[in-house]
Amino acid sequence: MSEDSVNRVCALFGIRLPLVMGAITPRPQLGAVVSNAGGLGCIEGISSPAKLREQIRSFRTLSDAPFSVNFPLAFGDRALVEARAQVALEEKVPAVITSAGSPKLLTATFQAEGIRVAHVIAEVAHAHKAAEAGVDALIAEPTESGGYRGANEISMMVLIPAVARALPELPLIAAGTVADRAGLVAVTALGAEGVQLGTRLVVTREGAEVFPDYIHQLILAADDTSTMSATGPTRPRVSRPEFAERVLGNSKKRAQMGQVAALIHDVPSVAEVIEELFAGGPVHAQEVAASLQRVAAGNTGK
Ligand SMILES: Cc1cc2nc3c(=O)[nH]c(=O)nc-3n(C[C@H](O)[C@H](O)[C@H](O)COP(=O)(O)O)c2cc1C
Repeated sequence: MSEDSVNRVCALFGIRLPLVMGAITPRPQLGAVVSNAGGLGCIEGISSPAKLREQIRSFRTLSDAPFSVNFPLAFGDRALVEARAQVALEEKVPAVITSAGSPKLLTATFQAEGIRVAHVIAEVAHAHKAAEAGVDALIAEPTESGGYRGANEISMMVLIPAVARALPELPLIAAGTVADRAGLVAVTALGAEGVQLGTRLVVTREGAEVFPDYIHQLILAADDTSTMSATGPTRPRVSRPEFAERVLGNSKKRAQMGQVAALIHDVPSVAEVIEELFAGGPVHAQEVAASLQRVAAGNTGK
């Protein structure tokens, strides 16, 4: 991603590609496919502590590669969050991603056991708090994404460069808005060193085994106006009720999904998604830069 051969996201997590799976499912099989393909698979840590332990152990029967457990800190009472964290500590998971809550809560506890900690932020002030808490990396979730985007709706175009400039010492991962190589090149150009994918990984062949069919239907049918912010403190992005009703018929169902759903029209395998994202790497960006230079050189200003 940068010109250097060492990418800080890969180095931090011990992965081959700077691709982090978002916390889209507690079931381990999709994450194991991502980890086996060179990214950082994820287990969404929302189950009971006993179930979470089972999911971590099951993941390890499917993959030897590094993975994360995601803890949305504001969900469930404090005792439940701490009991889940205790499981991650006992199972010695390689990495934890914390979101939707204070990074002060658990960062040092995990790090004391050698667990890498990345924290999800949605504005520069959150990034400073995460840095003060000592996190190892930042995951920046802009308003377009399918995740917990906070109250202030900062766009990817502003959030990534603003955080990268404020805290250059921390590896920065762009969460969401990416479905293809053009998106990956764009967030890299803005200053991210890695990407966290949610909606794109939901709509994969392996995702079809984990998510109910209606979620694929909604994402595949979505256009740029099909999502909205849910209410509540963490405000995930979800399908609009009237859109969901049009697609699914008389149904109250809805799906958490990013605006990037408008760019997703196929159901590839995870390997095909990754191949499209990384094969050819920065060539497209170089072409764009060269084309801008040609325009500038040929433009006399008259
Ligand atoms: C179905 C779904 C569930 C999610 N659940 C969580 C979660 O529990 N914790 C979290 O930090 N992020 C969660 N996210 C956000 C993802 O981790 C990721 O940051 C986001 O999807 C990236 O945006 P994108 O969907 O545009 O790729 C979820 C996203 C989706 C689509």
